Amino acid sequence: MKNLASSFRLPSGAVLQNRIAKSAMSENCGTLSNAPTSTLIRAYAEWAKGQPGLLITGNIMIDRQALGEPRNVVVEDYTHFKRLQQWAATVKGTGVHLWPQINHPGRQAFSSINKKVVAPSAVPLQMGGASKMFRTAVPLTEDEIWNIIQRFGTTARILKEAGFTGCQIHGAHGYLVSQFLSPIANQRTDQWGGNLTNRSRFVLEVYREIRKQVGPDFPVGIKINSADFQRGGFTEEESMEVIQILSREGIDLIEISGGTYEKPVMVKGDKKKSTLEREAYFLSYIEKARRLTNKPLMLTGGFRTVGVMENALEGGQLDVVGLARPFCLYPQLPTDIFSQKHHQFHAPIPRIGIKALDRLGGVELPWYELQIHRIGKGKQPRPTLSGFWAFLFSLRGMFLKSLWKN
Ligand SMILES: Cc1cc2nc3c(=O)[nH]c(=O)nc-3n(C[C@H](O)[C@H](O)[C@H](O)COP(=O)(O)O)c2cc1C
Repeated sequence: MKNLASSFRLPSGAVLQNRIAKSAMSENCGTLSNAPTSTLIRAYAEWAKGQPGLLITGNIMIDRQALGEPRNVVVEDYTHFKRLQQWAATVKGTGVHLWPQINHPGRQAFSSINKKVVAPSAVPLQMGGASKMFRTAVPLTEDEIWNIIQRFGTTARILKEAGFTGCQIHGAHGYLVSQFLSPIANQRTDQWGGNLTNRSRFVLEVYREIRKQVGPDFPVGIKINSADFQRGGFTEEESMEVIQILSREGIDLIEISGGTYEKPVMVKGDKKKSTLEREAYFLSYIEKARRLTNKPLMLTGGFRTVGVMENALEGGQLDVVGLARPFCLYPQLPTDIFSQKHHQFHAPIPRIGIKALDRLGGVELPWYELQIHRIGKGKQPRPTLSGFWAFLFSLRGMFLKSLWKN
């Protein structure tokens, strides 16, 4: 019977030792030249002690000229290879899988830390006052698109060589892959835009390039939006079609999330939904997806109680339970579950009362990043940490990176 402790074989043959995964969280903990720091590496060693089935890293960028956050790790060549090997070695002998999440931010790239911003089309982000932090992107040329596809593959291959045990494409949350899928962000009239076949060409080619470079036995997964939750955006029906396309290609694990910077439901859920779905945001979507694919499905967003996680698994709709924020406050979360130390995992939403900032996660995300930094420094997480302090910390990172010459 499926339960949180049961192991799980992926199509490529790799086995997850249980059904609990730490979902990707951008740690914003690289050096100013975007190498992994010892703090970042130690955080993973601590998480590995908790014995999850799978640890997915925060998004790693494929191009140092395209950053989501100032201290993202970037892997475009062998420059930081030793550090990557140390990072991958944190799970050696533990039975834990460690997958890098691979990403390009497209238009969701702050102007202060990116000289040029590229995207499928020149469509500005609609984020009220916060839009000022982003410039309108330059549409990608055909050659640039193929160059980015190639980069996804190269980054995955280097990370495999460093010792990571699988990888995940970031196809969610309004970043480049998700921009190509969206009829709002993608207004192209060539083979990359228009109908869904064209809009999904990019993700398909990214998957194929990675598979070509890492081979058939290396697990390759994707995080994808159930929908963008925007009028005229990527819909649930379209998302289901893309899942079927990727399933036919042989993808190993499909993680379901939703939302974009413009509509950040990935960390908020939908207050109008039933109580159950307020805890596991995209549950009704995954129930429908289950009927369309037999590939492994992972659900992330809102899980906080062991009973809800167990029910979702036993119901058969999903194969892996993903959690993000709780791992920042309970680094040993899986062993806490299996030893019955905790049945519930609180993950607060810190605020400072400035609406634009609070709404966009301008306080919440750095607050959780700071908890990760504490874990990486060998300290205990601190639930009473000040939201204002976290916000100042994020400004400092932006400022220092804006002065840094790549
Ligand atoms: C600090 C922080 C950073 C995040 N960075 C990423 C990321 O790099 N990639 C990603 O796919 N999701 C990212 N997320 C979203 C989480 O993976 C997850 O989808 C979301 O937090 C909902 O899950 P939860 O309710 O268990 O936290 C981030 C979330 C937080 C709080």
